[in-house]
Amino acid sequence: MRTEKERNLLLKALDAFKRKIVVISSDFRVLASAGLESLIGGESPSGKYCYEVFYNRPEPCDNCPARKVMDSGKASLRDLSSDTLNKEKKSCLYAYPITDDDEQNAMTVFNFELPALDGLEEELRQSNRFLHNLLQSACDGVIAADMTGQIIIFNDAAAEVTGHSVEAALDHLNIRAIYEDEMAREVMRNLRSDACGGKGKLKRYHIKAIGKSGEKIPISLYASIIYDERGQEAGSIGFFHDLRERIHIQRKLEKTQLQLVQSEKMASLGKLSAGVAHQLNNPLGGITLYTKLMLEDYDLEDNAKEDLHRILKDAQRCRDTVKELLEFARQTRQFMTPLNINKAIDRTLFLIENQTLFHNIAVDKKMAPFIPLVMADSQQLGHVFMNLIINAAQAMDGSGTITITTRETATKDRVLVEIADTGPGISAETLAHIFEPFFTTKEEGEGTGLGLSVVYGIIENHGGTITAKSIPDRGSTFCIELPITHETEKGAQHAEYA
Ligand SMILES: Nc1ncnc2c1ncn2[C@@H]1O[C@H](COP(=O)(O)OP(=O)(O)OP(=O)(O)O)[C@@H](O)[C@H]1O
Ligand SMILES: [Mg+2]
Repeated sequence: MRTEKERNLLLKALDAFKRKIVVISSDFRVLASAGLESLIGGESPSGKYCYEVFYNRPEPCDNCPARKVMDSGKASLRDLSSDTLNKEKKSCLYAYPITDDDEQNAMTVFNFELPALDGLEEELRQSNRFLHNLLQSACDGVIAADMTGQIIIFNDAAAEVTGHSVEAALDHLNIRAIYEDEMAREVMRNLRSDACGGKGKLKRYHIKAIGKSGEKIPISLYASIIYDERGQEAGSIGFFHDLRERIHIQRKLEKTQLQLVQSEKMASLGKLSAGVAHQLNNPLGGITLYTKLMLEDYDLEDNAKEDLHRILKDAQRCRDTVKELLEFARQTRQFMTPLNINKAIDRTLFLIENQTLFHNIAVDKKMAPFIPLVMADSQQLGHVFMNLIINAAQAMDGSGTITITTRETATKDRVLVEIADTGPGISAETLAHIFEPFFTTKEEGEGTGLGLSVVYGIIENHGGTITAKSIPDRGSTFCIELPITHETEKGAQHAEYA
């Protein structure tokens, strides 16, 4: 309990405080005040409504801190610097509850100004604004977190890469939602060691960030530990950029390089094959000729005749291989004309449909009725389709479905042909070699392994591309793309209905 003297001293102290103080009831009536008399012409405001007497309003102010105190039972502060014309001073209204026997029955409101901090605060605000703009305009993502992992800086670029909005990230996101647990630990371990760019620093570190929808995004990260003035760790900051585009371009480049190596390999093998084929052609011609002469000129026993027929048959097989080799080396003449791909496929199917290999094979044609023409040698293209269809039939062991699709590509400058089978598919190791000459998985004497390399050469020579894809046990698909020509077939439109 305070003595009378103490109370008087406190009242004097309040007057000397020279601040405007008002005590109001829960219905906004002034119960007591100090330093406000000058505002209202020396009259005492006691018993009047504060909003009427001080603000000349018919009802309480919307942002009245006393009202907040009333609702929450807690102290409340209102910054008046944005309301007042006097921008140089930071003026605040502070309100707090007065309780009697634990029951809130009045509120004290007083105002105060912080003139001493004004200049400093504005300077601080300006430099904060500058720093904020600097981070926001950075092309790289910037994320900083405190020691609990709570994100404290998150710029627009970070939002673009991760998919999290800046507001959401600053509001509730933890750094562990951006880096996988183990990754975040590894980053901190490396940051604290000397291993990657010095203690407290991490340079060009490749890791995966997690996007909002859970996707893993490869990034290159530069990070450092933030130390406080006492040298204690206060958090970490990371600058990073998205590597997806770069990785995509790199993969494309690697693929092109591989294709280039493949083409060069094919070219040198082509030259070699052409030489060998020419060397073999003449002796093979001799073997065939003299075998036929023996059969015609001599009256031979049946056994001997049978052997000579076998020689003829094998010589023929050798000649077929030589023909393939020459085809592979593209030593045969090309005769290019505008061609309807659907018609070329139909002609090939007509040739093979009666072969026993195809008796239990269904051919599903999904050919676009309207297909632009391509510039091609019809015989060579027929050879391509024949090889692919026979390969498919052989892979399916004579029973299954071959689906042939033709259509214009989305870019409208190429025609696409897809030949898919329901065979056993091609393993990844085999897939890497199928277009190489002499690569075969067939028994000796059953395949030369030249079929697909000839196909590859022909398509390349036509300015097209051929690729193979496969799902093991589900089948294989060969995709050919050939450039469209704007020349027209003799007596036909440049694109036609098949
Ligand atoms: N549709 C397919 N399904 C599964 N494997 C295939 C298919 N097409 C090709 N292959 C694989 O590719 C290899 C090479 O095919 P390619 O046509 O070049 O030679 P081949 O068929 O073995 O012999 P050749 O065509 O000279 O008679 C085949 O041995 C086979 O392993
Ligand atoms: Mg083949």
